[in-house]
Amino acid sequence: MSTALIDYCRTEIEALKEARTFKQERVLEGPTGARVRVDGREVLMLTSNNYLGFANHPRIVEAARKALERWGNGLGSVRFICGTQELHKELERTISAFFGTEDTILYMSCWNANEGLFQPLLGEEDAILTDGLNHASIIDGIRLCKAKRYVLPHGDLAASEKALVDSQAQRRRLYMTDGVFSMEGEVGPIPELVELCAKHDTLLVVDDSHATGVLGATGRGSAEETGVHGKVAVFTSTLGKAMGSAAGGFTTGPAPLVELLRQRSRTTLFSNALPPAVTASSLEAFRMLMEDPSPVVRLRANAAHFRTRMTDAGFNIPKGVHPIVPVIVGDTAKALAMSAALFDRGVYVSGFGYPVVPQGHARLRCQISATHSTADLDEAVEAFKAVGREFGVV
Ligand SMILES: Cc1ncc(COP(=O)(O)O)c(C=O)c1O
Repeated sequence: MSTALIDYCRTEIEALKEARTFKQERVLEGPTGARVRVDGREVLMLTSNNYLGFANHPRIVEAARKALERWGNGLGSVRFICGTQELHKELERTISAFFGTEDTILYMSCWNANEGLFQPLLGEEDAILTDGLNHASIIDGIRLCKAKRYVLPHGDLAASEKALVDSQAQRRRLYMTDGVFSMEGEVGPIPELVELCAKHDTLLVVDDSHATGVLGATGRGSAEETGVHGKVAVFTSTLGKAMGSAAGGFTTGPAPLVELLRQRSRTTLFSNALPPAVTASSLEAFRMLMEDPSPVVRLRANAAHFRTRMTDAGFNIPKGVHPIVPVIVGDTAKALAMSAALFDRGVYVSGFGYPVVPQGHARLRCQISATHSTADLDEAVEAFKAVGREFGVV
């Protein structure tokens, strides 16, 4: 055993603790929901991606249970060898119908969808343009491909246009953006990017992980929210947030692009198929949303209520509509201490500081769900007011 390496791990862990960036897991004593049990008591959950409350919805759980009995636990295979069931094809068709796209490919996660996206499509003679605040999975996926990189200042359309002009000589070009930036709850400038990419013959890909089932009147995401549904060529997204909250991700778009990913994308070629129970529960999530988009409407109303009440209480909340509601408190130590104090008062909300967010912009990131009642949200606001006063934030 290399003691040098183990010593290195110990030193790094100490450094993380000292820098207050050591991540401590809290252990839930049951399923997730508007309220959860932790340390033997019930707390209000304000930090989950379970936007629609599907994580433990009876229909979702029943779909998973039935699939386990009908299709078994797993396939013991990647998709192309012997890991494809009718269930996978049905989910892919359903996602395509939901987005109005030609075809869809499933992955074990959206991390895998993003990681496996760029290398099959782009080579040394090509260019990738990427927003500087894009998700880590996009950053890592781009690292695996040899295309020329243009990392753009976040949300800077003038810089984007300049990069599109500068990269004209490259053979093929792809522009990648998050539909929603998850630390901010901020929706990207999708209509402007649709226009710019069309003007410069560049493929626009939007990672809608925090928008699928969340934004737009029917939950179709950032393009629907901003009035350009049908105009974004390709989406990647997750099945692990609004759409059942278990696992899985996908890329959806033009048939030839999706087929080439099936042939060449390494994160599907060399990794097992999505388990039947997860595939079936995700399918049920899409069916539920397509039958009845009212949870999206409730989610939006809940987010608006919480945003208004927190702003009225004097907290610094960036403007927006998304159920990610960042409460900016500035200092990292303060954000983490406030998170602990809120937990003591029965509200489970995460604090984020530098280097996850810029220095001086530490925050508590609240995430609202359709399953929160108005009373739940008001209870959270009252806890925030008490803790905010204690820490001199309001
Ligand atoms: C924008 C974005 N993309 C991708 C992912 C990864 O999704 P998954 O959990 O399915 O790997 C996340 C999850 O945090 C995300 O926020």
